[in-house]
Amino acid sequence: MSWFRIREYRDSDYPVVREVYSTGFREHVGAIFILSLQQRWAQALLFGLFLLLFFLFESVLVSLLGLSGVLLVGWMIVHHLFNQGVQLGLREDLKDIHASYMLPGRISRFWVAESEGHVVGTVGILPCVGEPGAWELKRISVRKEFRGRGLAKRLCQTALQFVANQKVERVVLFTSMVQSDAHRLYHSLGFRKEEEFVWPSLPAKLIHFLVFKYAYTVNTVGSH
Ligand SMILES: CC(C)(COP(=O)(O)OP(=O)(O)OC[C@H]1O[C@@H](n2cnc3c(N)ncnc32)[C@H](O)[C@@H]1OP(=O)(O)O)[C@@H](O)C(=O)NCCC(=O)NCCS
Repeated sequence: MSWFRIREYRDSDYPVVREVYSTGFREHVGAIFILSLQQRWAQALLFGLFLLLFFLFESVLVSLLGLSGVLLVGWMIVHHLFNQGVQLGLREDLKDIHASYMLPGRISRFWVAESEGHVVGTVGILPCVGEPGAWELKRISVRKEFRGRGLAKRLCQTALQFVANQKVERVVLFTSMVQSDAHRLYHSLGFRKEEEFVWPSLPAKLIHFLVFKYAYTVNTVGSH
């Protein structure tokens, strides 16, 4: 018997689904901070600041402390931006999961993976707003302790099978440059990267934050 089961979303899952999504999203904050530090302008700024402080105080210790303070502020800014990103998702389709995914007669659905009665993974699929005729896979997240055991793959396959049965032919998803575990998952499912673009916001442009669009051609032959 399998150690997990996949079932459709129920309204009682609402808080835990939002929490699994938020936690999964937030764990990339460190990678984004490192990406920021890799930017030439950021390195030049930090180096310039160090020199300025050294020139003013003639102390390496004070200069390093000043630099640490600036890094701390940078970390807080990245955190803040991440929280805004999480809030965006919580205000979109996850605000009313039932209405977004579970209304009868629509080709959209949300599933959770349960282990010992607890929700440990999520996925949803609905029509893609930016591309009429395509469906979008969203909110793929698995709790850390349950990763690397094929759970996300099974969740995504459940969604892909569901839309194949509805004769949907194209599924897309959006992910970012820092979500490398997710890229492996998508490749292993048969998705191919189609586009990459810088996320259209000032902070994203400053760190050249790339978003990838992946696409999958659904095999509708044999589906019913
Ligand atoms: C991405 C994520 C959902 C993967 O969940 P998972 O349950 O560990 O994935 P699976 O065990 O089903 O792995 C599926 C495939 O991806 C590969 N994979 C997943 N994580 C991997 C890792 N850290 N290293 C190497 N390969 C990995 C697996 O080897 C497997 O490939 P295979 O079928 O060829 O063997 C999980 O890491 C997660 O929740 N991350 C945080 C939220 C997130 O970033 N979501 C993506 C939003 S776009």
